[in-house]
Amino acid sequence: MTRRVAIFISGGGSNMVSLVDSMTGDHPARPCLVISNQPDAGGLAKASAKGIPTAVVDHRPFKGDRAAFEAELARVVDAAKPDILCLAGFMRVLTEGFVSRYEGRMLNIHPSLLPKYRGLNTHARALEAGDAEHGCTVHEVTPELDDGPILGQARVPVLPGDTPDSLAARVLVEEHKLYPAVLRRFASGDRSPIYLP
Ligand code: GRF
Repeated sequence: MTRRVAIFISGGGSNMVSLVDSMTGDHPARPCLVISNQPDAGGLAKASAKGIPTAVVDHRPFKGDRAAFEAELARVVDAAKPDILCLAGFMRVLTEGFVSRYEGRMLNIHPSLLPKYRGLNTHARALEAGDAEHGCTVHEVTPELDDGPILGQARVPVLPGDTPDSLAARVLVEEHKLYPAVLRRFASGDRSPIYLP
């Protein structure tokens, strides 16, 4: 049975594009929705150009009422009947209420080697710490931020002269390999972690 995947974005959606482009042929999943909290997210046009249904639930009218925002988000998401939810550059922190609704079938990609550097500014923090390597992690989403079971990691070297931007760009290349690989394995029912390289 083909698994239906809803992808959450807030910006350009480069990870979304990688995921959508990977779901072809004998892949056990297909995209059913790309949804954003940002009406002007560049990824929405990219999804539409690929024939993927899109939706926007702008968080701003809810004026900080997270429960009301998430109730509308869930209503729109559930209408697409997804089996798997992928957060891909989605920049809203989701409450336990929303996460528990989808726990066990919601994934996220985070730009660090978790459990190191949960939260924001991961590349700058890795540089400040003088780390020799950095990377990205795909994990199951649980109520604790950036804390769920790890489904995959990709490592990159930190190079002399790296800036947060140069390091982020090197990590992003690996994100585009890791997330599709993890999604394919996860959609086939296999939760064993993938480590790249
Ligand atoms: C990426 O760095 C990813 O690690 C983080 O959001 C950033 C932008 O992702 N989750 P995208 O280009 O919008 O997919």
